[in-house]
Amino acid sequence: MNRLEGRTAVVTGAAGGIGSAVCRRLASEGARVVATDIAVEAVMELAREVGGLGRMLDVTDPAAAAALAAELGEVDVLVNNAGWDRVMHFLETTPEHWEKVLRLNLFSQISVSHAFARGMAERRRGRIVNIASDAGKVGSSGETVYAAAKGGVIAFTKSLARELARDNVNVNCVCPGPTETAFLDVFEGERGQNILEGMRRAVPLRRFATPDDVAGAVAYLASDDAAYLTGQAISVDGGLVMS
Ligand SMILES: NC(=O)c1ccc[n+]([C@@H]2O[C@H](COP(=O)([O-])OP(=O)(O)OC[C@H]3O[C@@H](n4cnc5c(N)ncnc54)[C@H](O)[C@@H]3O)[C@@H](O)[C@H]2O)c1
Repeated sequence: MNRLEGRTAVVTGAAGGIGSAVCRRLASEGARVVATDIAVEAVMELAREVGGLGRMLDVTDPAAAAALAAELGEVDVLVNNAGWDRVMHFLETTPEHWEKVLRLNLFSQISVSHAFARGMAERRRGRIVNIASDAGKVGSSGETVYAAAKGGVIAFTKSLARELARDNVNVNCVCPGPTETAFLDVFEGERGQNILEGMRRAVPLRRFATPDDVAGAVAYLASDDAAYLTGQAISVDGGLVMS
């Protein structure tokens, strides 16, 4: 399939489990991929592998996102994927934790979208795909603040989709369920493993997602096959959340 031939796609958090699978998938469908992350060496290696560009981008730095948008010029697809969490009971969290989780999971997607959306609107062509989470739809014990941030991503996606629809820019989000990446290491110790096992048993398809499962949904949303979808929050979770 060459559904993304001639399109330039920027992916944040591209060195991670889901981000690297997204870059490989978009490149395999013909896109010119700009892989960005704070893990510079890993992202440069990935960019070489997929025949794209690699760039250092800290998604919490709006000026850096704006500078990258100015440098790249025409960008057709933005995948806001970078994210972070640490599992903690809400009563153990601190203002520093709230600040970090909201900055990395919500502020970052707002700021990077702001940097790239104007050019898309001016060219009247663009796709923004935000990686949210099922936690943002139904909540998640031990991830209270993260769930609030991801719920914010879903609401942000819907509102931005409404505003940019007249400019032919579609904005959607993918809500992964538990996905086999380093991210699951946040479920530490016996308590964390018990939570994970409970979730695995609750998944109707009886397994966690692979990064490729998520990447397939992102590629679809970036392609013309999804031309009539905007403002959607699509769960990729083996049926864990049906809404
Ligand atoms: N894995 C899961 O179970 C799961 C479930 C639901 C949602 N998600 C979401 O999927 C996305 C990708 O997660 P993943 O599982 O691939 O995690 P991951 O830990 O494998 O990758 C995250 C990437 O983000 C990068 N990153 C961290 N801080 C950054 C910053 N300030 N600027 C730029 N990049 C930064 C990291 O270097 C890393 O490469 C995240 O938004 C996460 O919230 C993951």
